[in-house]
Amino acid sequence: MIPDIRDLRSRAQSSFFEIFEELAEGGIATDKDARIVWINAKYQKFLGIPANRNLVGLPISEVIPRSLIPRVLDTGHPILLDLMEYSDRRCIVSRFPLFDDDRRIIGAFGFVLYDNLNEIMPLMNKVRKLSTALSRAESSLRNGGRSARYSVSQFIGTTPGALEVKRQARAAALSSLPVVITGETGTGKEILAQAIHAASDRAGGNFVAVNVAAIPEALLEVEFFGAAPGAYTGLGKQGRIGKMQLANGGTLLLDEVADMPAAIQSKLLRALQEREIEPLGGNAVVKVDVRLISATSRDLESLVQSGQFRADLSYRLNAYPIRIPPLRERLADIAALAEHILEEIVLRDGLSSISIGAAAINLLQGHDWPGNVRELRNMIERLVLEGGGKDIEAATVRDLLPRQSKAAAGRRGDTLAGGTALLPRMAEAVAALESDLMRAAMVQAGGDRTRAAELLQMPRSTFYAKAREYSI
Ligand SMILES: Nc1ncnc2c1ncn2[C@@H]1O[C@H](COP(=O)(O)OP(=O)(O)OP(=O)(O)O)[C@@H](O)[C@H]1O
Ligand SMILES: [Mg+2]
Repeated sequence: MIPDIRDLRSRAQSSFFEIFEELAEGGIATDKDARIVWINAKYQKFLGIPANRNLVGLPISEVIPRSLIPRVLDTGHPILLDLMEYSDRRCIVSRFPLFDDDRRIIGAFGFVLYDNLNEIMPLMNKVRKLSTALSRAESSLRNGGRSARYSVSQFIGTTPGALEVKRQARAAALSSLPVVITGETGTGKEILAQAIHAASDRAGGNFVAVNVAAIPEALLEVEFFGAAPGAYTGLGKQGRIGKMQLANGGTLLLDEVADMPAAIQSKLLRALQEREIEPLGGNAVVKVDVRLISATSRDLESLVQSGQFRADLSYRLNAYPIRIPPLRERLADIAALAEHILEEIVLRDGLSSISIGAAAINLLQGHDWPGNVRELRNMIERLVLEGGGKDIEAATVRDLLPRQSKAAAGRRGDTLAGGTALLPRMAEAVAALESDLMRAAMVQAGGDRTRAAELLQMPRSTFYAKAREYSI
């Protein structure tokens, strides 16, 4: 027999209520004037109110100052899902209006669902991440999207080497002297440059970076100094503002400064001496006040000695040298860096927290990290992927850590000789060959990227991009 539909509905309503009350960490109901008519013991305990205190009849706002129940009563709309943090506990709160048979609001009830809420952690993380991103975007909008994203405290590390770098960065921030940051690829030169800017009294100005190696030589002049309207075909009425001018009052990062072509070196030197620039194709000069930070993974001094870099420019740029030691000289920083990177990944991807144990860290400290922190970051990304977002196991680290490159090369040879079953994918094989050739060219060119690119007949900017990809 089919049960009476009204009967079914009222049974559904009461069991719905019971289930909620059972699942919830607390439940509360009010009349239409937001006075408490019912509150269960669990909720009273959750709120830290002694069980013997009778709350019935009190306005809800006296008990829960920021309650949204009054809003539900005003609008007649439920708030089905609200994420709240009470001290360090994360909860889902749902609030519903109550109607009489004529759809008049007679009250409201609310439930606080609290679990250890592993399931909603990703959601909470996403919310937190979005609100951080939002406030960062807002502050960056206020100065045209060119603010620095890092502060000195975000340069992670507590080894003497790392602490010395941070000390020097803070000291450099006290003046506007030009700084040269040297360090192997992936040691954090760019984030340190941003940190110096952010700690200096130019923080309100722009932080602008030019990657000297990544931009084709023919375009570098305009990139630096800009171009007057009509300077070349295709340029709009406004002309083009150069990076020097964009950085006026702020900081300009000359990234990969050692790769600066000779013609640009002389123009830059002149601009620094005169404190003014001359956009291409114009006859007006523009005054600029720019703090220069240069970054390089090569030894500027030896380039000066071999005549590849102008000595006078190098003196001007290098008032305050900072050397970031490679990761293998501060292996003890790996634990803190790994934690930090994991936290970033968890926030970015909205995962539940992931931990990494001492055994795994130990293994990571056994590698020599030619690609430094960037390589470590890539490794952690892969570990997270491989482990499916679970805590990182030492065994996974052992599997993913690169073997000796000789062994890898051997394996490649074997597979090529030994039939098709173990053949690497085409893209991997090509990349392996390409990076081997590029390394060889770098050795032959004595570390000069421009020369190495020429040896391989590759465009300089392509060479640069690939060198970065392969951590050369
Ligand atoms: N001390 C550090 N703390 C936190 N993150 C770091 C640190 N050092 C490097 N990183 C991270 O490593 C990556 C590489 O850093 P960055 O781009 O600043 O290196 P770089 O020295 O400029 O490298 P390259 O010479 O290849 O341009 C970035 O993801 C950066 O956030
Ligand atoms: Mg860099």
